[in-house]
Amino acid sequence: APWVGNTSAFQASRLQRHLPQGIIIGVRKGGTRALLEMLALHPQVAAARAEVHFFNREENYGRGLGWYRQQMPLSRPGQLTVEKTPGYFSSPRAPERVRAMDPAVRLLLIVRDPVERLVSDYTQILHNRRARRKPYPPLERLLLRGDRGLDTRHKAIQRSLYALHLARWLGAFPPAHIHVVDGGGLIREPLPELRRVEQFLGLAPSLGPDNFYFNQTKGFYCLRAGAHQRCLDQSKGRPHPPIAEQLLEQLCTYFSAPNEHFFSLVGRTFNWC
Ligand code: A3P
Repeated sequence: APWVGNTSAFQASRLQRHLPQGIIIGVRKGGTRALLEMLALHPQVAAARAEVHFFNREENYGRGLGWYRQQMPLSRPGQLTVEKTPGYFSSPRAPERVRAMDPAVRLLLIVRDPVERLVSDYTQILHNRRARRKPYPPLERLLLRGDRGLDTRHKAIQRSLYALHLARWLGAFPPAHIHVVDGGGLIREPLPELRRVEQFLGLAPSLGPDNFYFNQTKGFYCLRAGAHQRCLDQSKGRPHPPIAEQLLEQLCTYFSAPNEHFFSLVGRTFNWC
């Protein structure tokens, strides 16, 4: 019947690409992929699956907002477009640039114990190097400068200084526009965190216990939509190499003050080391 064709053409014409109304800005290795994929189970969410790196990379930012919009998925009317690029959080220019795009945009920041984040960050680089058959020193050698103690200039340490970066975002956005997700909570029990995210983004409550199930083999929650179920790929939730206890203690001591600063900025505390 001719109207069948018309209907699908009509529906296709209602699909459009929009600039994101929600952005997961970080933190790197905080659980950003899990958060995005879980949020994408919501029927009102259209998620950009690949990291776009628009606000943190000059060559992309120079391409302009038209290019950025083209990187977004097609969405139906009433759907919210969301992207995630963890590199935004620690990028000095990103907050102002995001505000210049849309001062009303909703920002999601998923955080995790800064020492665990650091070790996860290190583990990822270690795997990337191994895949290219390149050596990578043990974390102890990267971070310890003999008797001069921790090399706090190291990127993996700097990225775990959440207060330092968040302060810049709070210079560009009111606190009510930045929602902090507990990455540890998302691992232990995703649904409560997702419910708070739905609320923050103004989405109708839709995600429920059926959307998540614990996979014993993976040791993490996996995703379910109807008959379809899947876990995140093997690069997410992989074992970390053993790290010297002494270094872990040094890191915990080092992060203690910046953590307190972060807690005061977000008005809540986390049970970190
Ligand atoms: P590890 O691989 O170090 O355990 P990101 O996506 O920002 O890179 O974060 C990766 C981290 O997400 C993983 O770090 C893992 O701990 C965490 N994560 C949270 N929920 C997860 C889930 N359901 N499945 C797999 N990893 C998850």
